[in-house]
This record gives sequence, structure tokens and C-alpha cells, in this order.
Amino acid sequence: MQINKEQPIGIFDSGIGGLTVAHAIRTLMPEESLLYFGDTAHLPYGDKSEAAIQAYSVKIADVLLRRQCKVIVIACNSASSAAYNLLKEYVHRSVEVINVIDPMVDLVVGKFANQSVGLIGTRRTIQSGIYAEKINARQAGITLKSLATPLLVPMIEEGFFNNQISDKIIHEYLDDPHLKGIEALVLGCTHYPLVKEEIASFFSKRIAVLDSSEVVAQSLRDYLRQAGLLNVKRSAPDHFLVSDYTESFEASTKQFFRESVHLEKYALWG
Ligand code: DGL
Repeated sequence: MQINKEQPIGIFDSGIGGLTVAHAIRTLMPEESLLYFGDTAHLPYGDKSEAAIQAYSVKIADVLLRRQCKVIVIACNSASSAAYNLLKEYVHRSVEVINVIDPMVDLVVGKFANQSVGLIGTRRTIQSGIYAEKINARQAGITLKSLATPLLVPMIEEGFFNNQISDKIIHEYLDDPHLKGIEALVLGCTHYPLVKEEIASFFSKRIAVLDSSEVVAQSLRDYLRQAGLLNVKRSAPDHFLVSDYTESFEASTKQFFRESVHLEKYALWG
């Protein structure tokens, strides 16, 4: 398939959490057009089986390819852990696939060698053990302490952040003895940047709280540049598709993308 730089960047997540990554991409590369797919009909992915997430991801990749995306960004840790390898194989003759885990692993290995690093994420991401596997393979002497924090996604989706309820839930999770002594904390879910400040405050800003949106945007830009696919002038407006539509989703997109966007319904199984 012939790819040209004017084609959009395809981005997907289980819902609107990946808009945190889309926003970082938009900020770093204002000349690019984005096509975002939020699989709101199947949210949350964090509690789904690996097989289910793989099936959704393949369907979404088909949509993004049909809409001529020049690259696919999996803006979701749960889907990156469950479906990245499969998706790469599925589309490898057509386009490159970027996940949110590898750029974060590079950052952690580069900055926190021989230190103790915490990781929070959905059950799917934590149970997959993928961060530990990739970090250990780099032999940087990092001790990774992982903790599933499954309430955070529904809490954020319901608009509970920067208030007493979210503070209480975050406190309850981060107080876990397993996380004692960490020198950095990886936010292993693209919803979590919305509570990054609260998390940093819990640690009295003593440790680094690492969110993947910027490193993913940078790694995408590196790829596009090296492949000669970096756009120089925006050729189309951004487009946002969701597999199920509610007004509340549309309202909360503003918090994730930091500007209003119009969501268009696109049923995955027509
Ligand atoms: N935002 C997604 C992630 O990074 C997951 C949220 C969900 O459970 O659907 O894992």
C-alpha cells in the first residue's frame, strides 16, 4: 500500500482515555491530522480477556486502515499489552503500529537504572506482566513494583478527580505497602494523567510521576520523520469516532483532550 504524509494518524483506546495521548500528539505535531477511535461500547478494556481485546483491536485497525491512516497508535496500555504483537502482524504490510508501553520502558530504563520503580494500571495490564518483562529484559537493575488500580478508570470516567472521593481512592491504593520505597511511579493507563497531580501530591512531589503521553508522541514523531511521513501542512480536520455514543462521553472529552470535540458514532459490529 502506498502511504503518503498527508494521510491521518490513527489512534485508538477503549474510550476517551487515549485522548490524553492524542492531545500530546496534537501539541507536538500541529500539522498532522488525527483520526481517533474510542471503543466506548466495550469500555473498560482493563477487565476484559486478552482474546476479547484482540478481537476489538483488529476490528478497529480495519476501520483505521479503511480510512487511510498512515500509522496506528494504540493509545491504551490494556490493548498495548494484549494486542500489540497480534496487530503488528495483522497490519505489518500496510502500516507501522506504535504502542504506549515501549516508549515508557525506554524512559524508565534510561532514567531510573538500579532504582525501585512503581507501576499502576488496569488488571489486564498488570496481570500481563508486560512492563516487568520488557524492563527486566533490558537488565538495568530496576526493581518494578506493580499494582492493579481498577477503580481509577471508572472513577475518572465518572468525572471524579480533584475531589475528596478521588483523593480517598487514590490514597487507599497508593498507601499499599508494596509501593513503599519507590523512586518513580509509572502511570500505566492513559486515563491516569487526569489524576497525575493528585498522585504527585500523595507522594508530596518527592518522586517522579511518569505519564506516557509525551514520550509516545515523541516516539511517533521519530518514526514519522525517519519514514519520511511527517506532514508539513495540515490537510484535514481531526475526526473522532466512538463505538457507542452518550452525551456524557462527549462532555468529558473536553477534560481529556483539553478542548471540545465532536464525537461521531461508528458501530464496530454494524
Ligand atoms: N486507557 C486504557 C489503558 O491505558 C484502559 C482503560 C480501560 O480499562 O478501558 O489501559
